Amino acid sequence: MGELYRSLARYYDVIYRARLERISQEIGFVERIFRNDARREVRRVLDIACGTGAPTLELVRRGYEVVGLDINEEMLTVARGKAQREELSVEFMLGDAAALDFQEEFDAVTMLFSSILYFDEDRINELFNSVIKALRTEGVFVADWSNLLFYRDEGPDVREEREGNEIVVTTTWREFENASQRLHLKHLVQIIHPDGEVKAFFTHENLNVYTAREMRLLAEKHFDEVRIYGDFQRASGECVETLARWNQRPSSLNASISLSFSSLFLTLKRTY
Ligand SMILES: C[S@@+](CC[C@H](N)C(=O)[O-])C[C@H]1O[C@@H](n2cnc3c(N)ncnc32)[C@H](O)[C@@H]1O
Repeated sequence: MGELYRSLARYYDVIYRARLERISQEIGFVERIFRNDARREVRRVLDIACGTGAPTLELVRRGYEVVGLDINEEMLTVARGKAQREELSVEFMLGDAAALDFQEEFDAVTMLFSSILYFDEDRINELFNSVIKALRTEGVFVADWSNLLFYRDEGPDVREEREGNEIVVTTTWREFENASQRLHLKHLVQIIHPDGEVKAFFTHENLNVYTAREMRLLAEKHFDEVRIYGDFQRASGECVETLARWNQRPSSLNASISLSFSSLFLTLKRTY
């Protein structure tokens, strides 16, 4: 992890413009999970690995009290600028999602756009512990990640976006390493100025890929209820219902995961 969230932070929303355009639909789905799975009213939300704040700010627009947290200051600078321009009241803070310093302060914790894939098995356990501490009783953790079963060995994807007087051309390769279950996500980002000058950046993200079953096994060590939902986008554009529910023990912690077409949504509940 480097260039994409540092030198390219100010271009992040341009590189992922298509995702930005569906943020309202995505957060609508997250709200639906809040209503289904949290056994308390969700008012205060912690958005971890918030990046440039796309989900954070959409939650604020919908009336939640939100804190956004990210490990890269450059991403937070962009997020703060956006909040200021829209005059939205939100706190953005620097921090590691796996070492949160909150004690039962939030009704919900969100972690969106596959950010959970930065965590390998050891770190994901630290992450779940850290999130549990931050959640109030009967609060909910909602995460999504790309579905391993959807990776195809395809050629590079090229996208061109205009940003002010610049053109940003992003070429993306996805290489899946079977033995280690890692996804190498590579971007070549070329920023073309009107005078013909071109700046080029190469980024390489090394992501941990989980099947729904693996995520469930990891999650149920920490939570009693795990739900997996389908992606918020189907061909019809409609949300899907809960597809699976496992492991309902009467005791302390609950978790939920969601199974999908191109992404997976996971919700984990703290119920003690
Ligand atoms: C794919 S981006 C997602 C950003 C945002 N959640 C969204 O939906 O647009 C992943 C983000 O995770 C952040 N990140 C990675 N590891 C982190 C960690 N240990 N703690 C906090 N943030 C982290 C990166 O800085 C980056 O902003």
